[in-house]
Amino acid sequence: MDAVTIPREKLLATLKAALPDGILLAAQDEIERYTQDWSGDHFGIPLAVARPRSVAEVSIVMRYCNANDIPVVPQGGLTGLVGAAVADPGGGEVVISLERLNKLRSISAIDFAMVVEAGCILEEAKRYAEAEDCILPITFGAQGSCRVGGNVATNAGGFNVLRYGMTRDLVLGLEVVLADGRIWNGLKLLRKDNRGYDLKQLFIGSEGTLGVVTAVALKLFPKPTQVETALVGLRSVDDAMALYARARRECSDLLTAFELILRGGIEIALGARPDVRDPLSQICPVYVLVEASAGGRVDLRAILQDFLIGADDLILDGVVAASRAQGQQLWLLRELMVDAQGRGGRYLRTDVSVPISTLAGFVGDALEALGKSHPDALPVTYGHVGDGNIHLNIVPPAGMGAEAIETLFHETEEVIFDVVDRYGGSLSAEHGIGRVKQEAFLKRIDEVSLDLAGRIKDALDPTGIMSRGRIFPPRAQFPEAGGR
Ligand code: LAC
Ligand code: ZN
Repeated sequence: MDAVTIPREKLLATLKAALPDGILLAAQDEIERYTQDWSGDHFGIPLAVARPRSVAEVSIVMRYCNANDIPVVPQGGLTGLVGAAVADPGGGEVVISLERLNKLRSISAIDFAMVVEAGCILEEAKRYAEAEDCILPITFGAQGSCRVGGNVATNAGGFNVLRYGMTRDLVLGLEVVLADGRIWNGLKLLRKDNRGYDLKQLFIGSEGTLGVVTAVALKLFPKPTQVETALVGLRSVDDAMALYARARRECSDLLTAFELILRGGIEIALGARPDVRDPLSQICPVYVLVEASAGGRVDLRAILQDFLIGADDLILDGVVAASRAQGQQLWLLRELMVDAQGRGGRYLRTDVSVPISTLAGFVGDALEALGKSHPDALPVTYGHVGDGNIHLNIVPPAGMGAEAIETLFHETEEVIFDVVDRYGGSLSAEHGIGRVKQEAFLKRIDEVSLDLAGRIKDALDPTGIMSRGRIFPPRAQFPEAGGR
């Protein structure tokens, strides 16, 4: 006898009935805002959008979708940059938005820890920490919209990684709804715990492919009482990296950010807001935004100033912010540059990393290769060079057609990734693989890594309903390693 296929609409109606009113949305006007991500580059057509208010409701959705082979995609603040959280454009996926699961469950300044639900906006979680005279150090441009569960799912990086580490380094525990609907309670506040496998690590950076993160226990740190920010201009990326090597030692390990911006980026920022002035009197090829922070009795201003004076062989021009407000004005340049770099249109984003000691060589080689292969394209170069992580982005020439832009992105990405390979680097240091970097990622993956990843996916999501096609293709189409 043939198996009877139940139509999707009927399945959805049953799921809707199993949940309280208003949890499952399917009407076009109601699901509109869940269809597009912040970058504007990725669109999806959800079959429906579930907006659970409790872990139990997430569990109901997962159990039902798993039993009925309905693919799902967890969704946070939609600020990811690799197209992982928007639904499949084919219209077959149920989006699970965590936006209503957003409470602070607990916070303790003694434990230096907080437990927040996945849908809590990062900036709000940071405010809860500050109210306890602590900080949650995850910091980057999208923090006003991104959600903590997404930070975990993508192992978010940002400006403060060099002092505090990636999101992975800040997670003490997780609560996760598994593909089959079971709830895994790994919410611990323990700093030390060596009981067997550290299962939470599997979910951090898994981009929604292994489970739905519903709550996170995060490390906090004492809130610094002093923050000093400086912008310095230098001759070259080489000099910037020499300055970094000295800064790590001479600033008593108090550095929290060391951001590189090439002159082109500063010009983009200044062009974006005519009321924002160039903070330096001299035009320099390369800039570094340095931030240091400290609590207690150290004289941080003196430490930073002494360091900068001692580095006058490297520094062409520079300014130390006289106040926090002035420091924020310096950071504004970084923010404006990111927002304005595409002139409102699409641009290629990369987020590569190489060993810190080779970063200057990498930037030089990559820009030279791009200049030869695509002289019309505009590279915009900046990044968290204290972590060896650079964003080498490509803005297409004005007026280029959509098809030519696609080709340009593909070709320039390959040029950049070839240089990354030569330096033993990573083609994604921060943003992840999602759909966007999948082809390039699979081309380079080794057989053993691919085999292990496939087994982990099979173990945690045996029916393959979770974020299908993100990071790896659907299981049935699993490639052979290295594109062979
Ligand atoms: C940044 C993010 C986009 O560095 O990675 O601005
Ligand atoms: Zn970044």
